[in-house]
Amino acid sequence: MKALILVGGFGTRLRPLTLSVPKPLVDFANKPMILHQIEALKAIGVTEVVLAINYQPEVMLNFLKEYEKKLEIKITCSQETEPLGTAGPLALARDKLIDDTGAPFFVLNSDVISEYPLKQMIEFHKGHGGEASIMVTKVDEPSKYGVVLLEETSGKVEKFVEKPKIFVGNKINAGIYLLNPSVLDRIELRPTSIEKEVFPKIAAENKLFAMVLPGFWMDIGQPKDYVTGLRLYLDSLRKMSSPKLATGPNIVGNVLVDESAVIGEGCLIGPDVAIGPGCIIDSGVRLSRCTVMRGVRIKKHACISSSIIGWHSTVGRWARMENMTILGEDVHIGDEVYSNGGVVLPHKE
Ligand code: GDD
Ligand code: MG
Repeated sequence: MKALILVGGFGTRLRPLTLSVPKPLVDFANKPMILHQIEALKAIGVTEVVLAINYQPEVMLNFLKEYEKKLEIKITCSQETEPLGTAGPLALARDKLIDDTGAPFFVLNSDVISEYPLKQMIEFHKGHGGEASIMVTKVDEPSKYGVVLLEETSGKVEKFVEKPKIFVGNKINAGIYLLNPSVLDRIELRPTSIEKEVFPKIAAENKLFAMVLPGFWMDIGQPKDYVTGLRLYLDSLRKMSSPKLATGPNIVGNVLVDESAVIGEGCLIGPDVAIGPGCIIDSGVRLSRCTVMRGVRIKKHACISSSIIGWHSTVGRWARMENMTILGEDVHIGDEVYSNGGVVLPHKE
């Protein structure tokens, strides 16, 4: 089976982190977002992943070469010369997606995080006999997503409305699709949106079906949602009794600590914290609801909550970072500095 991941877009909502790497390579829970997806695809037997790219392809490819070997999965690129939206890239990658067996293929948005119940999705797809399956999930604020109205028992999609201005319903498109090759015949090679131009048509022919996604879901393409997404992800690890979660007298709630990170005496870490590889957390530091990326140094008695600390940054002694402070890569914060929602560009002091 094959899969395509939509990795275009400039990730502007996740700046300043996306000034250093394309959005799919931004770390989430100690590994690049896209690896969560590639690993999930590999786990259910996908043999080839096509990355639909329109921006910084070299960076992505160099990075993924390493993982192609590690994960034993073929990773190829389909590069656009102009952004083709969310459907155009499928037409561009047509030859890569079709195989002799006529098997359906997966399409994933690159910025969604979940338990990826892809096996169940294959069963669902076989069961309804339609042309396309999508995953849906319930959210409180549906207006920023694609809203889906469906027949409860069969899952048949009656209506698909992208970013509705007035309330239609609260089940939304989770950005995970399983499509028959025939869907490609509906897509022209031009900038076009799968949500606005393709799904509504398949739905009108009664061939689009939606499955309610079991477990958690989050689009982590914005800082606030990224921080919430980490909480949901760690909760889900807890439910699965994952051995990856940290334990110890200085750990509160769900915390991930890379094995190469060093944590000093008298710290209090958690809940909902991820500490990346090579981090040095000095003594007496307090961390909650935050991500500390690879190579960060947090000095004595600093306090960080609801924030993201980018790669190789340092936070000074007694400094306080809170309320969605986002530090880009290689930012250096002096002693005793207070940041309430500050956003700092890469390589600044
Ligand atoms: N290759 C390529 N080319 N990829 C693109 C392009 C493009 O021109 N434009 C966007 N993408 C990729 C993004 O990188 C992302 O993985 C995916 O397509 C969706 O784009 P977003 O910009 O993240 O869209 P959104 O979050 O506003 O809405 C989409 O996701 C929601 C769920 O998170 C839609 O699919 C909604 O219907 C959905 O509810
Ligand atoms: Mg998105």
